[in-house]
Amino acid sequence: MEIVICKDAHEAGIAAADRLVHYIEGLPTPVIGLATGSSPKALYQELTRRVEGGRLDLSHALGFALDEYVGIDRSHPESYHSVITHSVIEPLRMTPSRVRVPDGLAADLQAAADEYDEAIELAGGVDVQILGIGSNAHIGFNEPFSSFSSRTRIKTLTPQTREDNARFFDSIEQVPTHCVTQGLGTIMDSRVALLMASGEKKADAIAAMVEGPVATRCPASILQFHPRAIVVIDEAAASKLQ
Ligand code: F6R
Repeated sequence: MEIVICKDAHEAGIAAADRLVHYIEGLPTPVIGLATGSSPKALYQELTRRVEGGRLDLSHALGFALDEYVGIDRSHPESYHSVITHSVIEPLRMTPSRVRVPDGLAADLQAAADEYDEAIELAGGVDVQILGIGSNAHIGFNEPFSSFSSRTRIKTLTPQTREDNARFFDSIEQVPTHCVTQGLGTIMDSRVALLMASGEKKADAIAAMVEGPVATRCPASILQFHPRAIVVIDEAAASKLQ
């Protein structure tokens, strides 16, 4: 694992963008795995600056989001379809038809999830997977005790994750109970895993991921086995590293 400790979000955004661009530069069809949430915001902001400045073009890239809630309409402002559209596709000027988000409304959710994994494979696999990390060390929505070999599938959100995400909804009751998420096995197939985190609230999860045993109680610890995992964090998130 490469650990990059930055003094603030601006610096973290630049460090992460430099690495992402390094690994996709020159690829005819870069495939980017997209996370939602607060963690990668600084990265998306920096990429947006580069796109607006004419230094980066992502219109030919393919994108695969990590996850989606089950049972909320795509047009809901907090569906990951909406969030990816407004915080990633539009600012980064990606081509909407080239970006996919798991289907949380399919009649057969598992068939749709299987088809999602196949689409990633058909695209040639993910070149750079952008990740955040939950305070319980989930990546994607692979909550503690998720199988290390899991593929895209339905998962139940833990009370902790629903509480963490309640800030995006009017009340905790409105936070969906289930999601469809890429599995840990799917994430591990990416050629580069680029994880971002900031703030003291993530310090325990970061320490467990980087220095703890590789164990399903800390899903992100599987990244210790990733051939190219890059962790870009601020000083607060790094504060519990030895
Ligand atoms: C988002 C995702 C989640 C988040 C994690 C951290 O697509 O898969 O794993 O990355 O919950 O969320 P934030 O960054 O909002 O603290």
